[in-house]
Amino acid sequence: MPLLIKNGEIVTADARYRADLWCEGETITRIGSGLAAPPGADVIDATGKLVFPGFIDPHVHIYLPFMGTFAKDTYETASRAALVGGTTTLIEMVCPSRSDDPLAAYELWKSQAAGRSACDYAFHMGVTRFDEQTPAMLERIVGDGTASFKVFLAYKGAFGIDDGELYQTLALARRLGVIVTAHCENAEIIAQLQRQLLDEGRTGPEWHEPSRPPAVEAEGVQHLATFAELTGARVYVVHTSCKPALIAARRARERGVRMWVETVIPYLVLDRTDAERPDFEGAKYVMSPPLREPQHQQALWNALQSGQIDTVATDHAPFDFHQQKEMGRGDFTKIPNGIPSVENRIHLLYTHGVAAGRIDLHRFVDVASTTAARLFGLFPKKGTIQPGADADLVVFDPSHRGVSSAASQQLNVDYSAFEGWPIAGRADTVTVRGRIQVQGGRFVGAGDHGRMLRRESTHYG
Ligand code: URP
Ligand code: ZN
Ligand code: ZN
Repeated sequence: MPLLIKNGEIVTADARYRADLWCEGETITRIGSGLAAPPGADVIDATGKLVFPGFIDPHVHIYLPFMGTFAKDTYETASRAALVGGTTTLIEMVCPSRSDDPLAAYELWKSQAAGRSACDYAFHMGVTRFDEQTPAMLERIVGDGTASFKVFLAYKGAFGIDDGELYQTLALARRLGVIVTAHCENAEIIAQLQRQLLDEGRTGPEWHEPSRPPAVEAEGVQHLATFAELTGARVYVVHTSCKPALIAARRARERGVRMWVETVIPYLVLDRTDAERPDFEGAKYVMSPPLREPQHQQALWNALQSGQIDTVATDHAPFDFHQQKEMGRGDFTKIPNGIPSVENRIHLLYTHGVAAGRIDLHRFVDVASTTAARLFGLFPKKGTIQPGADADLVVFDPSHRGVSSAASQQLNVDYSAFEGWPIAGRADTVTVRGRIQVQGGRFVGAGDHGRMLRRESTHYG
């Protein structure tokens, strides 16, 4: 059904103006003032509201076998949660174990999403082993439209790869024009520090951060930069949590390494004291890299504002507090790592970023949508508002006041890391390719409307 969004204030990464938006089929076809709706069109009155391009979360985990358990969400729950939170496109990490066949793993991850997603989605292909068969398999996966890789420098013995494999992955990525996203922490140092802390009887969740201090992350970024410099590959550092890692990335960029930097919403609003909560509650806040001392948060906001950080994702990885985080009581190294936030990212970034005066509206759109679209081959269908773009739109009510809570969330997890937190502004109406999926902040759409987005290689030269 055609769709008219009237009287809203359109905000993109570089423009802000009042206009009506006319959408036919799946795309935006006209932008103008005083557009009239023919009979039968859906009409949304956006008076007093902001209209943003659909937000993109370039780093989520939905199907995730990890640390002896499985992440709790399915595409049914995570995609609805994403939409209610204003996110219209998810990019999920395919994370095979080292012994898995990469092609079989890729098909398995795709099968988890097919027909079950309410929002659009794509994948980054995890490279967790590199042998003689790997290049041909990865070429097929890139040919299928998954034009980005993921490597882990951490998680020794699970997803982590060694330096020879890292070099070969980056060299192949360079040849295929594919960007490589990377979890940067030095796995060997973590293993040593974990052993040492456990031997000293330091077993609670509050010891997770000391087992992976900022220097461990900065070394990971520096390490990746060296390999990117020598291979010419383009790299994207995921979930950057601290100032030393930002400095390592800045130094790499200054010497010409093609590196982009992501942070994730938990680091911008939570800190190490959350992981120190008594009675094992700190386990809810265990993720890697860990939540840091509060001063790192200020460094992240400054870097976001100045352009040193390119994107804000979530690293959504949901594990129940009661059954799953519990696995690590008595040994913090066994607490499944992850903080769920796909439903909260946009509302928190708006509340603590825009409404708090830390970033402006254009930067907000850029870091939460446009840059991810550009980097991962989705622009300009996604990431902006212009004729010809997909009609993925967020009609946002800046005057809404609400509260985050596990009791009201769409996510299939038994806690919210942001329980009771006030929210200033929310996604009121959300469309995906012209179809209204959220209205009045509630999911009202089709659970199978989401489509896999096939992306071309764009990182040549
Ligand atoms: O703690 C985290 N980050 N869990 C998800 C896996 C990863 O490292 O991205
Ligand atoms: Zn990671
Ligand atoms: Zn992740």
